[in-house]
Amino acid sequence: MDTSEFLRPLDCKHPGDEKSSYMFAVSEQELKRLDEQHNGITRYLEGKLSLAPLDKPRKILEMGAGTGAWAIQAALQYPDAEVLAVDMSPLPSRYFPSNVKFEQLDLLNEFPWEKESFDVIHLRLVLYHIPHPADLIRRAIPLLKPHGWLLIEDTCLMFFPHASGPAQRKRNEITSAYMESRDIDPRIGSHLEHILQSSGGFSDIFVHKVEFTLTPLPDGKSVHLLGSCTNIDRNLIDPAIRPLAETMRNSVVGATTRSLSDGLVAAGMTPELQIAWKEEMDDPRYDPTQLFFFTWSRKHASTVSTRPTSSKSGRLIELFDSGLRTESDSDGSAWSPSGTPYLYGLAISGEQGMEEDLRGFLADTEIMMGLSGHRSIEEIWGNYDEILYKLDVGQP
Ligand SMILES: C[S@@+](CC[C@H](N)C(=O)[O-])C[C@H]1O[C@@H](n2cnc3c(N)ncnc32)[C@H](O)[C@@H]1O
Repeated sequence: MDTSEFLRPLDCKHPGDEKSSYMFAVSEQELKRLDEQHNGITRYLEGKLSLAPLDKPRKILEMGAGTGAWAIQAALQYPDAEVLAVDMSPLPSRYFPSNVKFEQLDLLNEFPWEKESFDVIHLRLVLYHIPHPADLIRRAIPLLKPHGWLLIEDTCLMFFPHASGPAQRKRNEITSAYMESRDIDPRIGSHLEHILQSSGGFSDIFVHKVEFTLTPLPDGKSVHLLGSCTNIDRNLIDPAIRPLAETMRNSVVGATTRSLSDGLVAAGMTPELQIAWKEEMDDPRYDPTQLFFFTWSRKHASTVSTRPTSSKSGRLIELFDSGLRTESDSDGSAWSPSGTPYLYGLAISGEQGMEEDLRGFLADTEIMMGLSGHRSIEEIWGNYDEILYKLDVGQP
């Protein structure tokens, strides 16, 4: 659906919030950038709201609505649905369909909604600005109805030193340090799948990863698709991805060279550095890339908590087996057996088979601990997310 006619005029004063973690100063230019970005992403999705097979949702929550562009599109696409757009800043003054409502709130505060209120919750490029983003995801899950969809799209600050010039590397260092000092995850996009999986809240999780260069090609083609981190084909030109990549290039350049928050400027992102970085972005010797992740996850059908509680009464010893994903799954359990392999071992070779299984388990644990740079159980206790990030992604 082409919503561009609804996305004008943009007549706004968007005050922003000095205390916020949002890195871009909120100005009319920033709102135009967000609208253009929305239109580019929508073109890539061939007019769809998401890659999820949404089935006539009745209640849709758009967290971090920005200019309201996605909320407008959702409201037009589902005229019978109620679309609630929320953001810490007011929406710009523009046309909104009557089924869009707005609430101004800080997503870091307790949510004012009942559990299981929404069929769809959408967050696009919001977690990249939020401290402890995994917490926000976990807090959003109870708001979904059973079978509801959580749609998240986000990006990742790239660390490919061989492909970057000095200004790009400096920019990434400053941005990363600035974000981490505020507990924001510069690589949230690449961590999404793991966070969604380890939440234990979903029956289906889908991730579509797109990677493209941000440098114009010398032959006049403005972008080209890289394929993926492990399978880079620099000659591959994918027509479907070009509008998205062009949009993202304009968006990244626009965001970084025009409208930075005072905090990021104070952290070292000087106008000189921005100019040098922009020059590198047009220089074919360098090849900075951008990752973009589309994720869509369907909540479990059951509303019954998978987390055991009865052991808290002290009268039952609770055992939690099968499908243990995170420490929070077994929270409250006295034991967390992982029994099935040992039963197989027992059935095949009796006691010896079971001992083999246990030895394998201990060896695996030691190897994984070693790979993540930890020497003892004490060092990993309670650091689940951090450790899996190290294993999944590696350090820059
Ligand atoms: C990059 S914009 C993306 C806007 C929109 N989702 C889109 O894709 O066009 C991030 C938005 O998140 C909002 N935001 C950031 N932190 C927030 C918070 N703690 N509470 C509510 N909104 C927040 C910002 O105000 C901004 O509108």
